[in-house]
Amino acid sequence: MPAYAVIGAQWGDEGKGKIIDFLAENAAVIARYSGGNNAGHTVINDAGTFKLHLVPSGICWPHTMNVIGNGVVVDPDVLLKEINENELDPQHLAVSDRAHLIMPYHIVLDQLEEERRGNAAIGTTGRGVGPAYVDKVARLGLRVGELLDPENLALRLPEIVAFKNEIITKIYGGDPVDLDSVFALTNRWATELAAYIRPVENIVADALESDGNVIIEGAQGSLLDLDHGTYPYVTSSNPTVGGTLTGLGMGPGSYGGVAGVYKAYCTRVGAGPFPTEMLGEEGDRIREQAGEYGTTTGRPRRIGWFDGVAGRYSARVNGFDAMIITRLDTLDGWDEINICVAYEIDGVRTEQFPVDAVMLDRAEPIYETISGWTESTRAITEYSQLNAGARSYIKRLEEIVGVPAKIISTGPRREETLVLQDFLAH
Ligand code: IMP
Repeated sequence: MPAYAVIGAQWGDEGKGKIIDFLAENAAVIARYSGGNNAGHTVINDAGTFKLHLVPSGICWPHTMNVIGNGVVVDPDVLLKEINENELDPQHLAVSDRAHLIMPYHIVLDQLEEERRGNAAIGTTGRGVGPAYVDKVARLGLRVGELLDPENLALRLPEIVAFKNEIITKIYGGDPVDLDSVFALTNRWATELAAYIRPVENIVADALESDGNVIIEGAQGSLLDLDHGTYPYVTSSNPTVGGTLTGLGMGPGSYGGVAGVYKAYCTRVGAGPFPTEMLGEEGDRIREQAGEYGTTTGRPRRIGWFDGVAGRYSARVNGFDAMIITRLDTLDGWDEINICVAYEIDGVRTEQFPVDAVMLDRAEPIYETISGWTESTRAITEYSQLNAGARSYIKRLEEIVGVPAKIISTGPRREETLVLQDFLAH
């Protein structure tokens, strides 16, 4: 059966976890391909509320296999915590032997680098994600599979730790990490994780050749993509669809569909340009109503109107064939709703998403204002029950982004979902 990608179309936090939990009923494998525990996915269903950072959001369905691909960077302490809290076993969860490890010195460096950036800080999640990817590219990284070869680790670790300690102490004036404790940590990780370490590309390939759907679970969002996002205010991986192929080891012909998850408005955590940002009371109203605080760091999210320029760009760089709109119910009760249809930059109107973050920072949104609706959309599961205002809002977003909406989320719970068209094959 085919693969279906569910990808963040904005700056992350679009509600992908809820959507994946909903879709996983009809899937055999759910696979993460990028990022690390900088992600935070909230899943709410009859079994409870789950806040997940690393394990895929399919874990609540006992028939699913959930895999963490080679493109993810893994902090084993976080993974083991999630395994224990959710009582997961190797029948339901596997981590790629090729995935890179987030080591204690990566977390130290993430914080020191942010401090050094001062006013230009990116506002990272501080989980060591960026420095772990830096080491991967610099060919200094350690991979999950290496945990199973302590003799080789004992050879590699001293040199790497010594080099990292030089950077930590001589450049940043920080405290060095202790080699013996790092080595002891890797031994514990090896013992506790061994049964979960597998060649994930085989699990995905086997599922694609059999009769179960494979859901590819996005983390972060396309506008945080290292190549396509608002560089340098981005994460250090490729959340866009390209990252799924390298991050899992699968071919493009596997796809049955690629969906972009768009919140009915926009949010952003951390620094960087955000043209439609609603400063003041309007933004506060949405933040408080929708609990827009980071799942990973608890930081208040910045709030903005739906950005159609960014949304269309995101659809283009991912080739979305489906739009999934979340948090529609948060817009209930607004007299008027703004949709950004173009930017004005230095007096010139444009519908193109600028490559340059400095230029994007100067972009003034040009809004189309539509009437809101007073009726509640919360928990609606039938299109016939949706009020006319909400219908025209969805229609307008489809037109602006240029992709059909297939699923609308009308609340955080699994069942608060309106399916307009099937996304997965049955
Ligand atoms: P990093 O991924 O921790 O290096 O952070 C880089 C940027 O991406 C910061 O602006 C973070 O706030 C943002 N970011 C990383 N992961 C997420 C996420 O899952 N949701 C929203 N923003 C994120």
